[in-house]
Amino acid sequence: MHNIDTFWDLQREATAWRRYLHENPELDYQLPNTAEFIAEKLASFGINHIETGIAETGIVALIQGQGGEGPTIGLRADMDALPILEASNKPWSSKIPGKMHACGHDGHTAMLLGAAKYLADTRNFKGTVALIFQPAEEDGRGGQKMVQEGIMDRFGISQVFGMHNSPGLDIGKFSICNGPIMAGLDEFDIIVKGRGGHAASPHRNIDPIVIAAQIIMGLQTLVSRNTDPTESLVISVTKLNAGTAYNIIPDDVEIAGTVRTLVPSLRDFAEQQIPAAARGIAQGFGAEIEFKYRRLEPVTVNHTDETDLAIKAARNLVGSASVSDKHKPRMGSEDFSYMLEARPGAFIFLGNGSTASLHNPAYDFNDEAMPYGIGYWVNLVETVLVA
Ligand code: NI
Repeated sequence: MHNIDTFWDLQREATAWRRYLHENPELDYQLPNTAEFIAEKLASFGINHIETGIAETGIVALIQGQGGEGPTIGLRADMDALPILEASNKPWSSKIPGKMHACGHDGHTAMLLGAAKYLADTRNFKGTVALIFQPAEEDGRGGQKMVQEGIMDRFGISQVFGMHNSPGLDIGKFSICNGPIMAGLDEFDIIVKGRGGHAASPHRNIDPIVIAAQIIMGLQTLVSRNTDPTESLVISVTKLNAGTAYNIIPDDVEIAGTVRTLVPSLRDFAEQQIPAAARGIAQGFGAEIEFKYRRLEPVTVNHTDETDLAIKAARNLVGSASVSDKHKPRMGSEDFSYMLEARPGAFIFLGNGSTASLHNPAYDFNDEAMPYGIGYWVNLVETVLVA
């Protein structure tokens, strides 16, 4: 097991990779240059089992330990950038206007490459490490697609681990919790179908705008009156579209919104109760509704044993005081959740210091965090696959 001093040398090299990726961001599944860069680096480390083209531009590479037979564990990094015009003013700013690494996936990739180099050199573990480089995290589909393409069975992966940087958490600190750590994410659309007409004679029409207003308030009441107050559910109406003129009551109103929860069963509740409440309110005034619900990302749920292993690996790196096991779950979402549905594992946050927040145009991954992320991966492998 190593403390942080082992990893300073790798920081310089990994920082150069990270800044190259930062200058050359790519989006979604369209990551040809990023994937080629990663595959070339992996090959240069002496890793000879590299499979590209999984989930379009994803990569899985295997490193065998020297400690004999053992299980295969997956370490996952995401690779994609965001459609944002960069305003970080860093010398290594994006060369592509309108695309930038505003979530630090460049750093996640560089840290997993750094760990890959170290692990390929030392191989001080039993079994196998599967390095998973995933496309399209921001789209929320890349993780699912890699699971659907069978990476868990194909590579015999028995446990999976993920990591994300966290602005506001000090450099050298980690934060994790057992159980739900990030929210599930769904979306819904409601069309309120009334009967339009002249605004001067509302009694001859069925006014969908007034009905929509009641539905919006009713949805908030679902949260406050129909769910357990100790369980988190967010229903936010985020789009509202109606009307064309001052003197016309329209036929329809479109309502759209998002559902976030830390409790998987509350997604079922939302899918059933949002349309039930909306339909009941609409029918009370003679209107109808159309309803659509889309499940986008599951709740990210850490498993107990793997969370303990993650805590142990991080504490051996930076000491007990720098690793919180009482992370407060966030209502954002993460498509690593699909991998955690397929296999037991754990997702941990790594301090990025006091930088701009994720998805902000001024954000930049903090290269000071690099050795901590690399060291965590190495310690985790040597903890789970102890030779
Ligand atoms: Ni991210």
